[in-house]
Amino acid sequence: MLKGKHIILGITGSIAAYKSAVLCRLLVSAGAEVKVVMTPLAKQFITPLTMATLSQNPILVDFFNPENGEWNSHVKLGEWADLYLIAPATANTMAKMATGVADNLLLTTYLSARCPVAVAPAMDLDMYAHTATQRNMEQLQRDGVHIIEPGSGFLASGLSGKGRMAEPQDIVEAVKALFGEKKKSLEGKHFIVTAGATIEPIDPVRFISNHSSGKMGYAVAEALAERGARVTLVSGRTALDAPKGVERVDVLSAEEMYEACVERFVASDGAVMCAAVADYTPRSVADEKLKKSDDDLSIELKRTKDIAATLGAEKGDRVLVGFAMETQNEMENAQSKLKRKNFDFIVLNSLREAGAGFRGDTNVVTLIDEAGAEELPLMSKRDVADRIVDKIEKLI
Ligand code: PMT
Repeated sequence: MLKGKHIILGITGSIAAYKSAVLCRLLVSAGAEVKVVMTPLAKQFITPLTMATLSQNPILVDFFNPENGEWNSHVKLGEWADLYLIAPATANTMAKMATGVADNLLLTTYLSARCPVAVAPAMDLDMYAHTATQRNMEQLQRDGVHIIEPGSGFLASGLSGKGRMAEPQDIVEAVKALFGEKKKSLEGKHFIVTAGATIEPIDPVRFISNHSSGKMGYAVAEALAERGARVTLVSGRTALDAPKGVERVDVLSAEEMYEACVERFVASDGAVMCAAVADYTPRSVADEKLKKSDDDLSIELKRTKDIAATLGAEKGDRVLVGFAMETQNEMENAQSKLKRKNFDFIVLNSLREAGAGFRGDTNVVTLIDEAGAEELPLMSKRDVADRIVDKIEKLI
């Protein structure tokens, strides 16, 4: 499935380097051509002979061969690759990548690479949780590096927690996903996704709305479609194009969004309610543009229908995912919406968090269900969408 893909496998000095051997074998078996770059310390954890044998290519560690002066060109290597995968990636290497330090071949190759870069972090739980490491990972994500999340469990230190490098098979799946070979795990399923802001008219000229750009909902629609689902995107007004293969139904008001969703929900397998829907709408809409006068103006508002709550009441075994955009008492409010609207899980984003919420390309979310809460770091909205769809996949 990875036939003909050129992959540089970077290995850094971590005990998890023993898993790189299996990873290399899996990549080669899937048809990829693999060249291995190691940091000097990585050689202490796994031998170049092992990696050269498995990758069927000489191992690169130094800038040049001290025997004959032959130059190992990181520039050529960076140009050759379709993907640079660093697994395991230590806290030290990620810190250097985040700041542009280039004191070994693995790092100069990173700076020269024109291809996508992915890292699979591996370290002790406290190192992983440390603010400095999290900050560096956030920087790497902003720089476009894909993070293949570590798992939780027994660590080399004897402690247990998050920091174990992802299993080789999972890394290969992540690599395939990066090359666009997503698992078609949702084939035959139909999802409704709401996205964007609703528009509640006051008169033919003015309206009440909010800052939603639709980016988060469109990313969810795209992620579902890439896994094979049929997706109906019920979209408020946005400047975005519908993702490939997604059916878009344009609506303006909360009422129109309600009608479009209720009508389609019965025949669907679930819905993701990402739209920022107005809770109130003008009681009456003026036929003509309201004229200004010297007096203040009051507009009487009435409640809109709660689309998510309506779907929640008739959901049966369909999957229903909600969003909560909060500015205070975030967890409490999100948990209350989870129950009130009968969501399977709710995606909390807070306006108090930098890089989260409206308009931007990133988000910081917590996935909350009855069992608990999973906080995710700052990531692109597309990566958040994939995490949401991973969770839907487990439920369906
Ligand atoms: O579009 P972007 O610029 O990318 O921004 C993304 C986002 C911030 C809009 C998105 O991540 C988000 O948080 N969406 C939900 C915002 C919201 O209005 O949340 P809420 O707490 O008001 O509503 C809770 C849930 O009920 C939501 O799933 C909402 O879609 C749904 N709802 C709300 C009111 C209503 N009348 N009907 C609904 O279905």
